[in-house]
Amino acid sequence: MCGIIGYTGAGEACPILLRGLRYLEYRGYDSSGIAVFNGTNIEIIKKEGRISCLERALAEAEPKGTCGIGHTRWATHGKPSDCNAHPFVSYNSKFAVVHNGIIENYLEIKDCLLAGGAHFRSQTDSEVIAHLLESLFGGDIRKAILETLSRLKGSYALGILCADEPGKIYCVRKDNPLVIGLGDNGNYICSDIVSLQLFTDRAIVLDNCSVACVTAENVEIFGFNGEKKEFQIVGIERHGDADKLFESYMLKEIFEIPESMRSAASWYKYARPLERIDKEYLKNLRRIYFIGCGTALHSGLIGAWLVRRLMPGIDVHAVVASEFRYDNYEVDAGTLTVCVSQSGETADTLTCLRMVRAKGGKVLSVCNVKTSSIAHESDYLLNTSAGPEVAVASTKAYNCQNLLLALFAMDLAVARGAISEDRRKIYWEDIVQLPRKAEECLRLDKAILDFCIDNFRRKCVFYLGRGQDYYTAMECSLKLKEISYIHSEAYAAGELKHGTLALIEENVLVVAIATQEELIEKTVSSLEEVKARGAVIVTLTPFTGEKGLRAVSDALIPLPRTDEIFYSVLSVIPAQLMAYFIARAKGCDADKPRNLAKSVTVE
Ligand code: F6R
Repeated sequence: MCGIIGYTGAGEACPILLRGLRYLEYRGYDSSGIAVFNGTNIEIIKKEGRISCLERALAEAEPKGTCGIGHTRWATHGKPSDCNAHPFVSYNSKFAVVHNGIIENYLEIKDCLLAGGAHFRSQTDSEVIAHLLESLFGGDIRKAILETLSRLKGSYALGILCADEPGKIYCVRKDNPLVIGLGDNGNYICSDIVSLQLFTDRAIVLDNCSVACVTAENVEIFGFNGEKKEFQIVGIERHGDADKLFESYMLKEIFEIPESMRSAASWYKYARPLERIDKEYLKNLRRIYFIGCGTALHSGLIGAWLVRRLMPGIDVHAVVASEFRYDNYEVDAGTLTVCVSQSGETADTLTCLRMVRAKGGKVLSVCNVKTSSIAHESDYLLNTSAGPEVAVASTKAYNCQNLLLALFAMDLAVARGAISEDRRKIYWEDIVQLPRKAEECLRLDKAILDFCIDNFRRKCVFYLGRGQDYYTAMECSLKLKEISYIHSEAYAAGELKHGTLALIEENVLVVAIATQEELIEKTVSSLEEVKARGAVIVTLTPFTGEKGLRAVSDALIPLPRTDEIFYSVLSVIPAQLMAYFIARAKGCDADKPRNLAKSVTVE
């Protein structure tokens, strides 16, 4: 997650780039920088820290010029620092590049470039792009760009300046967003359309696998094969303040789920984390603990379910961190402890990690902050790669945690011979579809939303599910109660009649999650029991054609179909949105719920 902005036109570039970067800061804020063509060469200023640090540096020496690119970074490869900040300049200073994404084969490319005499100034994957461009440049910039792209593996949105072509910005989109803004006083490139409305009301949404050449008056777009592409100009709806377009961080982060999932899957594919773990150790594993708090614990419960589902012979437990630390859970050389934490700083989880390691056990962490204590102290890391999460209620990190745990369980099952290589390939076909399916889940029907908002105004809401849907129900329930202050409980659907059914009365809202095909009939029976006591039922399911579900539900929210091991990544999305809109309808501040904090560093 990084933010890219670019401008070429009649005005001074620097103030425009800075303004854009301030609005893109949500995409990352560990460093930022700009590159401006000053009439003679490309001048670069970049700084570690928030945009305000760059602003101070620019106040002292602002490059003058009317064409430039800017970047705000969320570190993936290489810690936040001045030299790891973008833009990167090529070894003979001909090209400057900003990048959002991951170059999976950067080490390979770097070795070749080093052998050719290139000098690297950063630890990033992105710097290779600038040097590669220069090394492939023989006088034709487009040719050099296309040749460079043919050698890159991974995902990228790029902004490129070339000292030989002042006034031109080249930009590229592959699996990371990029839009072009068309203004009266010049043209722009930007990571999101929302921020573009600062400058203009017309945009071109660049197609995937496209390159654009943007000048002050003109835009030309071509494919990776060099062929010219047609494009459409779309209108940008203007609002008073771009920040207000996403009225809260929580809503913004929910809408970032598809992109975060792309990043998480891409990180996993590139990092191959299980290959770093001793094969014999994996084969002989006898026990796995999943440890976490709150939302992270719910993800751990899904992790435990996935391991049980995919392979026999392992004893699996998901345990609340604050309980694990005071109990006598056995840890030995055949135990793996998986610590799940968005922040990587949660005190209870960190303590468990230290206890386990002190007993000689190995820890794999699932963390969204690579530089955090939990990530740092673990033996192995699954980098959640969801981008910064600001809202107190965790959303996109949870979806990515579940995705990574599914990938982990899948690879573990292959390593132990529980599933075949062919099966893994089929799973990957599902995985690449997940972000698009997440986008479908974000399109919640307005009528259903209104229905839910009306019904959620009850004093209590129940979430029901069986199997993994029970754990999803727990997360849905937590989302609702923490930001809307409506009391809610999650129940395994078959367990309700053992006591809690006493609380079901006329018009109590029950939200059912039904993604497990073989359990649909059982779930319908449980729903009949609450329906008979007057409950209003909303069901989230991919099996909307199921007669029983249709008959018992007052409203159905359709989910896209996927393999059963990936449902938890998708099924929570409509509930995250519902929780947000219900909180909003009640006038609650979803970003900063009362009594809570984002990172819980005390016991
Ligand atoms: C709920 C939420 C919390 C966190 C919990 C653990 O929306 O965000 O329940 O999940 O405090 O935090 P991390 O994941 O940072 O360890």
